[in-house]
Amino acid sequence: MQTPPRPLQMVDLRAEVAALRPELDAALADVLDATAFVRGPFVRQFEADLAAYLSALDALAPEVHVVSCANGTDAIQIALMALGVGPGDEVVCPAFTFVATAEAAALLGATPVFCDIDPASYNLDPARLAEAITERTKAVVPVHLFGQMADMAGIRAVCEPRGIPIVEDAAQAIGATRDGEAACLSGAMGTLSFYPSKNLGAYGDGGAVVTTDADLAERARRAANHGAARKYYHPEVGVNSRLDAMQAAILGVKLPYLPGWTTARRLAASLYDDHLRDAADIVRPVRQPGARHVFHQYTVRVPERDRVAGALRERGIPTMVYYPEPIHNMTAYAEGWAEGDLPETERACAEVLSLPMHPHLSPTDVAYIAETLTEVVGTPIAA
Ligand SMILES: Cc1ncc(COP(=O)(O)O)c(C=O)c1O
Repeated sequence: MQTPPRPLQMVDLRAEVAALRPELDAALADVLDATAFVRGPFVRQFEADLAAYLSALDALAPEVHVVSCANGTDAIQIALMALGVGPGDEVVCPAFTFVATAEAAALLGATPVFCDIDPASYNLDPARLAEAITERTKAVVPVHLFGQMADMAGIRAVCEPRGIPIVEDAAQAIGATRDGEAACLSGAMGTLSFYPSKNLGAYGDGGAVVTTDADLAERARRAANHGAARKYYHPEVGVNSRLDAMQAAILGVKLPYLPGWTTARRLAASLYDDHLRDAADIVRPVRQPGARHVFHQYTVRVPERDRVAGALRERGIPTMVYYPEPIHNMTAYAEGWAEGDLPETERACAEVLSLPMHPHLSPTDVAYIAETLTEVVGTPIAA
């Protein structure tokens, strides 16, 4: 087979919108009728619904506070603001992630300090975390990359005795759990992105800070609202970061579908696994013990990654490289770092390839992609 059974995409928002169109139209009409576009009942309702969804995922079913905001980058910044991170502080995070994880700390005048990853999970390696911590470390921000939770028990074992709070960057991992703990609820605070391609995406930007600590929630809410204690009283410097009512209404329509979509992603991932089982040169995603992976991405490692991506493109298969450049090698973040400092991060950047992954992927799509990938990886350069 040299052409796909139908056009393939990394993410299929067209299919999603088509399936939800009547509900979306009704929800948007409600917002227009109410003319409550910023803050207000739609935003409050979504925050409550999301809190209930997250709480139900966690074995302890804790009380969850959700502070919505403008995007997932702001969410990290606001969480760090709530924890009092500022100039002179250090924030430990991986360098194999979207730049926002480090950027949020840098924007507050803190220094991101990078910790290498575990090559099997791509997540921050707890065994290397202690080396990255100094007396200036004010927070640790693990990322639950590609939809699988980092080893939070291992990370907590390093952070808790030192009194260092953890902010989970769960932008890619809504709905993920590990050993009965839900993403966003297993550190001091968690952050989410509702960028359209995320597992729960708005049709614009959106984000949220999540915590089980009422005091931190209050501080986050103030930080996101110009540092306001009440209207027009601003004892602290804050930011203006709001989820708007249109996006909240859209997210409210989509949230009930998230469990089904997650199941569909996990099923597609299992099918990929089955098809790729005997392909010796293709490293499939590794499930960590006790982890429920929500497959924001299905990411493999392959030799000659860029040639493989090009050959797949010619056969109608889009792929993406998340992420080609480690953050510690980026000009803005490179001071004090050299190539070779984070070997597993750098190796991952050179080898990873993400395949199409979304809830509307059919078994035929997965079979075509996996079979073509196997064939292309097995084809020597000269062919
Ligand atoms: C791991 C990670 N952190 C943070 C973000 C930032 O989210 P946003 O694009 O909503 O600002 C993203 C997504 O883009 C992400 O994937």
